[in-house]
Amino acid sequence: MTDQERFRQVMGHFATGVAVVTGRDGDGQTLGFTANAVVSVSLDPLLVLVGVDHASSSLPALRESGVFALSFLGASQKGLARRFAAETRAERFAGVPIRTEETGAPILEEALAWLDCRVWKEVEAGDHLLLIGEVERCGGGEGEEPLVFYRGAYGTVCP
Ligand SMILES: Cc1cc2nc3c(=O)[nH]c(=O)nc-3n(C[C@H](O)[C@H](O)[C@H](O)COP(=O)(O)O)c2cc1C
Repeated sequence: MTDQERFRQVMGHFATGVAVVTGRDGDGQTLGFTANAVVSVSLDPLLVLVGVDHASSSLPALRESGVFALSFLGASQKGLARRFAAETRAERFAGVPIRTEETGAPILEEALAWLDCRVWKEVEAGDHLLLIGEVERCGGGEGEEPLVFYRGAYGTVCP
């Protein structure tokens, strides 16, 4: 096993929630992808971090627009997690109700909870770029159990 394989396997034991990172390109078209490298960073100011692969086709538009949103998925939204990780950009939003709050980044209407952010800082980190967002608005928090990613598979948790 290579060091990278072992690292992935070890990190797979750190259970996370699942988010969809969203934004808009220069034409105003929606873009989004599944992410679990999401960390709460600061309360003053309100900051949240998402690690984005430099290979992500969404990254240039996110950097250009300077805004993004995070929609946290519920246990019943496994299909959306798969779709936003795999299919083409147009298919990702097909039939998915969205709305906007402050920044114009699309928010998945049926998310468990959401954050609407303006990019506060970008930090280079190996093959990823850490996008730190200042939270302009956030909400949600009621409803079903969360979608959880653990050892490469989806599940849920009921503490
Ligand atoms: C559970 C899960 C978590 C993921 N987490 C991240 C992440 O934190 N950052 C990232 O850049 N890609 C992550 N990905 C991969 C992206 O969702 C995937 O590469 C996507 O196709 C990128 O879309 P884009 O090229 O249109 O931006 C994750 C995928 C899955 C299934």
